[in-house]
Amino acid sequence: MRRLFVIVILIAGIVLTLSAQYQDRFKNTWIEPGSGVTLPEFDAFDSVDGTVGVLNASGPVSTEGNPFFTALGTNGRACVNCHQPTYGMSVSTSGLVERWRTTEGKDPVFAAFDGSNCPGLPQDQEKSHSLLLKRGLFRIPLSWPPKNADGSPKPVEFTIEVVRDPTGCNTSPQYGLKSADPTISVYRRPRPAANLKYVTSGGRPIVLKTGMLADLDPETGNPVGMNLMTDAREPSLKTQAVSAIMGHEQAHEAPSRQQIEKIVEFESQVYVAQQAHIFGGPLAVAGGPPALGVAALRDRKAGVLGDNDYDPVFGLFTAWKGNDYYRASVARGADIFMFRQFWLRDATHINSIGLGNPLKRTCATCHNAQMTGQDLSAGWVDVGTTNYPTWTDPSTESSELPVFKITCNRDADPHPYLGRVIYTTDPGRALISGRCVDVGSIVMQQLRGLSARAPYFANGSAKTLREVVDFYDRRFDMKLTDQEKEDLINFLGAL
Ligand code: HEC
Ligand code: HEC
Repeated sequence: MRRLFVIVILIAGIVLTLSAQYQDRFKNTWIEPGSGVTLPEFDAFDSVDGTVGVLNASGPVSTEGNPFFTALGTNGRACVNCHQPTYGMSVSTSGLVERWRTTEGKDPVFAAFDGSNCPGLPQDQEKSHSLLLKRGLFRIPLSWPPKNADGSPKPVEFTIEVVRDPTGCNTSPQYGLKSADPTISVYRRPRPAANLKYVTSGGRPIVLKTGMLADLDPETGNPVGMNLMTDAREPSLKTQAVSAIMGHEQAHEAPSRQQIEKIVEFESQVYVAQQAHIFGGPLAVAGGPPALGVAALRDRKAGVLGDNDYDPVFGLFTAWKGNDYYRASVARGADIFMFRQFWLRDATHINSIGLGNPLKRTCATCHNAQMTGQDLSAGWVDVGTTNYPTWTDPSTESSELPVFKITCNRDADPHPYLGRVIYTTDPGRALISGRCVDVGSIVMQQLRGLSARAPYFANGSAKTLREVVDFYDRRFDMKLTDQEKEDLINFLGAL
């Protein structure tokens, strides 16, 4: 009995020491603005089921004075607050909760402006930051109506009303739709600031999905790929960085050209991918699947279509179709992603562009760009995550999000599947284009480094990759078996 007691105490001691070390590691890996640390060329960080790799292709990066890591505005924030290497150049809810605890909510990431549900709320209370702490969502205030580059209002095809306002921000006299500066607040996840040569590739004069002219890069005058941000509102990394400094960092003065160039230089050379799995070991191995790991992202070409069976989105996984349990599961998951056909139904900008509705295709039909699984053409699609009735779990989850009622003008083209009256938690692209057909269309994110940056979807509604897969299984009636779900999850987690 005594001996057993001693063993139990010993085991408890070991567990405590290990978990303390584990927590220490997490603490050290959160980078604060102005810390001056030097990032090595390659680093690996713990993620839920292995490690995420971060590669600086230009060699070690001194963050000292580097504007990506320096607070340039008035709230103490730098880009790195929301784009942390340890979380795949994004952030995770677990990381944010940990940060809330260690800084008692004082970290600038929680700044009132957009790190809380609404700036007017009491900032010291956890519940004023519930969307950030529970779903990893920042407030994105967007002017309504949207404006052209010269500041003139864009024509819009619908009226918008606030029907549910759990954060109080959309009906607030100071910050809301009826304020002096009419604003719509939606709540969104940070998209990874990495692998950006893929995200910014492409650019054709006409957007295939809409037949309309593509946005132009204000500097070069060339058409852009329109895959940046949830609603493609930023044409280039430079305009994005300026907006982030004036918005997220609350700067009063515009950044210098040199600062912007330095930011774009840093973020254009950083690559993120899952690097190892807790049971499966290293993922980027000689003779293994060619797209795994960060070096492949650095070396491969951007802008290549992968919706084919000879050179697919994430390469061939034939090398892993053996006896190893984990590897075989990932390989089966890759096959499901690429080849498993199901009926795509009522997804605007896929089913509505002459391909057919329903349409028997695969995950890779939408997620078709090699290496990242974005869309090679402008990527906004209404897959059903934000619009009623397919929005993610309306009874519980979405009750934390605002709900807008959109009423389309009589002479406008209606939403192809929902008609002229649409309830939505985030109108997505329509907040920028002003078009009714775009309501609920969201630009798909890149699918790399997923394990390090839960939750998923722009509104953070899928807490885990399992919830992502369950959403698709439900939405498109895929009838996946438990084994197939596990395979798909293992595959996504290896990217
Ligand atoms: C307060 C948190 C926060 C800060 C600070 C911040 N970002 Fe972001 N970032 C976000 C969010 C949220 C999004 C997604 C917004 C959306 O989709 O509407 C985003 C999106 C991006 C994207 C788009 C990636 C893609 O695939 O579409 C890039 C690039 C980016 N940020 C770079 C930066 C840079 C550079 C800075 C500093 C100048 C910065 N961010 C500061 C939260 C932040
Ligand atoms: C009809 C087009 C379409 C199909 C088919 C599709 N997706 Fe998506 N996917 C999207 C869009 C659009 C988003 C962004 C939605 C959002 O953020 O609300 C997305 C987002 C995701 C994300 C979230 C990434 C992140 O960073 O949050 C994952 C993971 C994903 N899809 C995996 C899959 C898998 C696996 C399949 C097949 C079972 C699939 N998708 C089929 C369009 C599609």
